[in-house]
Amino acid sequence: MPPLLNVKDLKVYFKIRDGWVEAVDGVSFTLREKETLGLVGESGCGKTTTAYAITQLLPRNAYIKGGKIVFMGEDLLKYLKKDGTIDIFDENIRKIRWNKISIIFQGAMDALNPVYKVGKQIEEAIMIHRPTLKFGEITERVEERGSKLQIYIPVKELSDRDLTLEDLNEAGERSTNPFILKSVGAAVAIIPVVGEEAGVKHDLLKDYITEELKKHKFSWKLREVIYDAGKGFMVHMESRDKAAEVFGELDELLTEHPVEVQHLMVFTLEWQKKIPDSPRVAYSSTPIREYTQKDARRRVVQLYRIVGLSPDRIDNYPHEYSGGMKQRALIAMALALNPPLVIADEPTTALDVITQYRILREIKKIQERYKMAMIIISHDISTVAEISDKMAVMYAGRLAELARTEDLFKEPKHPYTVGLLKSIPTIKGEREELHRRLASIPGSPPPLVNPPSGCRFHPRCPYAKDVCREKVPRPTKLSKTHIVWCHKVKAESEGSEW
Ligand SMILES: Nc1ncnc2c1ncn2[C@@H]1O[C@H](COP(=O)(O)OP(=O)(O)OP(=O)(O)O)[C@@H](O)[C@H]1O
Ligand code: SF4
Ligand SMILES: [Mg+2]
Repeated sequence: MPPLLNVKDLKVYFKIRDGWVEAVDGVSFTLREKETLGLVGESGCGKTTTAYAITQLLPRNAYIKGGKIVFMGEDLLKYLKKDGTIDIFDENIRKIRWNKISIIFQGAMDALNPVYKVGKQIEEAIMIHRPTLKFGEITERVEERGSKLQIYIPVKELSDRDLTLEDLNEAGERSTNPFILKSVGAAVAIIPVVGEEAGVKHDLLKDYITEELKKHKFSWKLREVIYDAGKGFMVHMESRDKAAEVFGELDELLTEHPVEVQHLMVFTLEWQKKIPDSPRVAYSSTPIREYTQKDARRRVVQLYRIVGLSPDRIDNYPHEYSGGMKQRALIAMALALNPPLVIADEPTTALDVITQYRILREIKKIQERYKMAMIIISHDISTVAEISDKMAVMYAGRLAELARTEDLFKEPKHPYTVGLLKSIPTIKGEREELHRRLASIPGSPPPLVNPPSGCRFHPRCPYAKDVCREKVPRPTKLSKTHIVWCHKVKAESEGSEW
């Protein structure tokens, strides 16, 4: 299965008066679904720039000079302007940002607007992105009304000719007023009361539904409740239990394959009785459809619970929140649309050690429960190690080492990683100690305008040789999951002395 995210040889430079800041220079890594990558390195090494390149939120003087960012099979860099700059308002990227990739910004805690209640800010952020109702939310609402359920997904506007199977397929692909949950193939219920009039052959539809269901491995449970209702097909929930069962299955599917379901119509039987003869009403009256402010509020309550905040605090202002609470609220905001990838840029840096630890644990729990992939960024390798499956160590705009977390700690190979690990204080969080010991890597990171030639770490590396000053190290694959960018490691892996 292809990875969720594939960043390949990414180069991001900033144009400044004196030339170019080579902030990210040939960074490559992949991320699978549900995987957590810790992106670490000293301040200024390009972590944030890498993250912002993925979400394409870079400032105007940023130029993507090369590479690829493929996310869920889509090449995100195809939307760049010709000169390599980014149009942050590009519609294609806006659809992905937050919906599919959300980001917890570095220092975002200060970004909460002091004059608005925190919950309201999250609610507004949700409304701006106009999410579509999720299955659960729809059913919740209908269940609240205490009615039996029927779901319809209209297939096509009334047609004056017979529809063919191709028409149905095409309709599913193209129309803005559809149809079939194409991306999950959930041809759950079709043709509200208009089948015959639309000239759709029932057996044709039945075949179509059956095929769609087969394709997506729906179980018999779901198939059983789909039946030919004379004038169309529909999912008929005879009881709440049945509904719960079927919805459970669909819900799972929709979580796996997030899909917009705004075209799904759910009607209660009571409502159906009111459908007049004219079939068009079934299209125009969509009582449960729009995502309303009330839905957003409901989601905020749910999110508060998820991130461990009491919903009682929704209507408090930011100054009434502690640092930890603000951070939790921002995590809630990032989770609002259930994105498959969350990027957290130094999410806990401004917090005290205990709060930091608690929040990281919470993030891990949420990530596991909601099955998101995550990139967690920190200048402190020990902070994120605990929650990362793998780690990427950056130095001066490039990767130094990429490995499973346990391998990186057990067998660090790059001299910079070794130095970083030596600098970890024995008792977690002793920051002064950390800073003192960081001095154990002599010197400081280089400027990224005219950075050092060859390996950018060479001015600080105790093992540097001529080749290090002359040639950029290529990646050495020590195993499928352990890659190091260092001449010494390469030589040693080939059995040569250094
Ligand atoms: N808009 C900009 N114009 C010029 N240079 C920039 C710009 N933004 C960032 N840089 C430079 O790019 C380099 C990488 O910055 P970036 O913010 O990605 O680092 P970082 O690893 O996230 O650091 P930190 O740990 O401090 O957050 C730094 O040298 C920084 O000074
Ligand atoms: S390539 Fe050379 S300078 Fe760079 S880390 Fe390896 S040994 Fe040190
Ligand atoms: Mg940063």
